[in-house]
Order: sequence, then structure tokens, then C-alpha cells
Amino acid sequence: MRIVITGTPGTGKSSVAKIVVQKTDCELIDIKKIEKATEVDVARLRKKILKVISNKKNFILEGHLACEFFVPCEYVFVLRTNPKTLLKRLGKRGYNKKKIDENLVAEMLDYCSQKVWQNYGKKGTARIIEIETSGKTAGELTRRILLTVKNRNKNVNGDTVDYGKELKRYTKLRTRNTER
Ligand SMILES: Nc1ncnc2c1ncn2[C@@H]1O[C@H](COP(=O)(O)OP(=O)(O)OP(=O)(O)O)[C@@H](O)[C@H]1O
Ligand SMILES: [Mg+2]
Repeated sequence: MRIVITGTPGTGKSSVAKIVVQKTDCELIDIKKIEKATEVDVARLRKKILKVISNKKNFILEGHLACEFFVPCEYVFVLRTNPKTLLKRLGKRGYNKKKIDENLVAEMLDYCSQKVWQNYGKKGTARIIEIETSGKTAGELTRRILLTVKNRNKNVNGDTVDYGKELKRYTKLRTRNTER
């Protein structure tokens, strides 16, 4: 089984992927270990990843950059987390204001989901499943992923995540702050 787990930084990809590999015969491929640069050439990164996975039948490729290009696989899980929770998690990491803002906005605009549909959707080989992680433990999310890949979960289309309201509120707050 070839599985991609992607989503905005802080949505819990690594936490979930770590447990999924323990419960499957999949090998874990963490993009952060392949690419450490901050300015990333995604075409080059894709080539590197294709090389890494070329001889593997069972893997979990995890990282937010996985949404930026197509990698042959059966499943793409896009982890989503409500902005309030994400803000707390990114704050704890000590990210600066700009970085937190960029990531929060990306999440509220469905950036990773849109990219996944652009890059994996038209190829039609992978099932794309969005997962709302808010309020769920990494263990619970893992069980859901495993049920989905074993085709035992009826909700195989995943969740419909919409942070439009949160985005509106965020924009309003920002406008108010700049008007002062
Ligand atoms: N389901 C969850 N419930 C509560 N906390 C979680 C959950 N998943 C992850 N976390 C916490 O959120 C933080 C970010 O998780 P994690 O490192 O797994 O995210 P990530 O998506 O891999 O981020 P990045 O893209 O930066 O690698 C960690 O502190 C982790 O303990
Ligand atoms: Mg991670």
C-alpha cells in the first residue's frame, strides 16, 4: 500500500504516520528528512522522492510538501485542523508571527487540499481523503486511516472541511487591527 499523508504544518501528520507504520508493513518516509532546506525546489524534491520510493511497494510518505506534486500512490490523506488549535500548536513551536499567519491562512484557504486535487486528482489513481483531526487523538485518527485503507470505513470520501467562517472572522480582526 502506498499512502501519502499531507496537510498544513502542525496538523499532526508525523504523530499519525508514526502510529500507522507500527500497525502496517509500510515504511515511513518523512519528507523533512529528505529535504531540510527552507527554500525548496519542488521539482527537484519530487525527483528525489521518486528515487526513494522507486523500489518500495508499501510506504507512508508524510509531509506538507507532498501536496505540491504527484507521487504514485493509492491514498492521499489530507489532515485538517481547526485554526484555533493550529494557532496553539504553532505558537508552542515558537514560530514567528508571520510564519504562524501564513500557515493559518493556508489552512483556512484549504491550500493543501486544493493542491492535492490539482496534483493527484486528475491522475485518478489515488483516493483523496480529507480528515478533520480536531478533537481526535492520533490513535483515533490512525484507526480511521486503517479502516479506510482496509475499505471497512463507509465514509471513504472523508470529511468536508470548511474554515470559511473562521477565515472571515480572522480577516475582520486583522482589518480592525490595521485601522487602529
Ligand atoms: N491528534 C492530535 N491531538 C492532539 N495533539 C496532537 C495531535 N496530533 C498532533 N498533535 C500535537 O501537535 C503538534 C504537531 O504535531 P506533528 O508534529 O505530528 O504535526 P506535523 O503535521 O507533522 O507538522 P509538520 O508539518 O511541521 O511536520 C505536536 O506537538 C503533537 O504532539
Ligand atoms: Mg511532521
